Amino acid sequence: MTQDELKALVGQAALHYVVPGELVGVGTGSTVNKFIDALGAMKTRIRGAVSSSEASTARLLALGIPVFDANEAGELAVYIDGADEIDGRGFMVKGGGAALTREKIVAAQSRRFVCIADESKRVAVLGRFPLPVEVIAMATARITRQFSALGGTAHVRVRDGVPVLTDNGQHILDVTGLQIRDPLGFESEVNQWPGVVTVGVFAHQKAAVCLLGTAAGVETVVY
Ligand code: 5RP
Repeated sequence: MTQDELKALVGQAALHYVVPGELVGVGTGSTVNKFIDALGAMKTRIRGAVSSSEASTARLLALGIPVFDANEAGELAVYIDGADEIDGRGFMVKGGGAALTREKIVAAQSRRFVCIADESKRVAVLGRFPLPVEVIAMATARITRQFSALGGTAHVRVRDGVPVLTDNGQHILDVTGLQIRDPLGFESEVNQWPGVVTVGVFAHQKAAVCLLGTAAGVETVVY
């Protein structure tokens, strides 16, 4: 199976976790796009969605799925999202699509995070994928130095020669060279650096379940 087919497989499998009559938290990315497309088929059986990005909101609305403001939604039964990396404990790196802050917000108001990913995302130790960090632009140089002190190299994410802006109007640093052996401690530490909006380690909001697309089918990993 191609990577695209594996993403479609787990996107479809995630429907099983959607609670009829309720709102579902929806992440961002190419795997989640497959989930959103599958969700279209059961749109009359859910109240709607809380979305983690402008891109996912547009896709949901195009399918006729109502999108609710996170502040009006209360606690959600489930949040479904992809990951750039996931380790054996359900800790993840996310933010390859620059949506990490809103993803963490919706994940935090959900009882259960169901991660959907193809098996290329499975790692023993987080850090192979450049770690996304959303930052306030004026703090970029100092935060870059702070990552250097930890052995990492940070670069501002650029597209077409200009810094990528998140849905919140902020910049993304991508940090290479880290081996994140204590995801909970690392997330807590980096999150309190002045100017950091959100670090892309999802340890405090880790996955409860991962639906992993493999050549043999969907592997369900419960943490
Ligand atoms: C977006 C994310 C995505 O979940 C992550 O980048 C995985 O994306 P994809 O499903 O396209 O591989 O965190 O900010």
